[in-house]
Amino acid sequence: MQFTYYGHATFAVIIQGKTILFDPFFTGNPSANGIDVDSIKADYIFITHGHGDHVADALPVAKKTGALVVAAPEIVNWLNKQGLEKLHPINHGGPVDFGFANVRAVNAIHSSGLPDGSYGANPLGFVFTSKEGNFYYAGDTSLTMDMQLLPYWTKLDFAVLPIGGNYTMDAADAAIASDFIQCNKVIGVHYNTFDLIKIDTHKATKLFADKGKTLLLPKPGTTINV
Ligand code: NI
Ligand code: MN
Repeated sequence: MQFTYYGHATFAVIIQGKTILFDPFFTGNPSANGIDVDSIKADYIFITHGHGDHVADALPVAKKTGALVVAAPEIVNWLNKQGLEKLHPINHGGPVDFGFANVRAVNAIHSSGLPDGSYGANPLGFVFTSKEGNFYYAGDTSLTMDMQLLPYWTKLDFAVLPIGGNYTMDAADAAIASDFIQCNKVIGVHYNTFDLIKIDTHKATKLFADKGKTLLLPKPGTTINV
């Protein structure tokens, strides 16, 4: 699978020729500098929760691309009130068959108010299973025992985990999370965008290497094969 990182917690994965964009945050994203929002492609947009650093560009990118937006019902309703119609509400449980993949929305320990103060419901993580591979995007979350459920559902090829601390897990907790979810390949996100989530990336990488695992930290704007 191809993974393209846009900085912070914004990335895209291509599965069966479909581009799945996650938590679109380009405008005001210091690490997405130089990335042209108008060039962003998406067939699907998955949103984990309502915070501005995850929904900032959902509306313009969805309008421009015609992508189907998948998010909690309350976020879907919020987007619908702003004129968006290609929407799919999802909540904890599932799984939902989207054709290119089965997607399960899972627990994330966080909060989820929308930028204008609207209620954004419970934050979510997503587990994708597909013919081309399986992965977990945790969204913004602390370490939680619920992650131990994932191996009951799927064998993960990789996981996208927040490592910045302060608002989410730090790298040390993400390394424990990688044990909970039984996954050896982790892509770190949600770090170094702002002062409060500045981290030592060498230390973070070593935490995983010491467990015989890989922490990938692609540069914003780059694409890697996972
Ligand atoms: Ni958040
Ligand atoms: Mn966030």
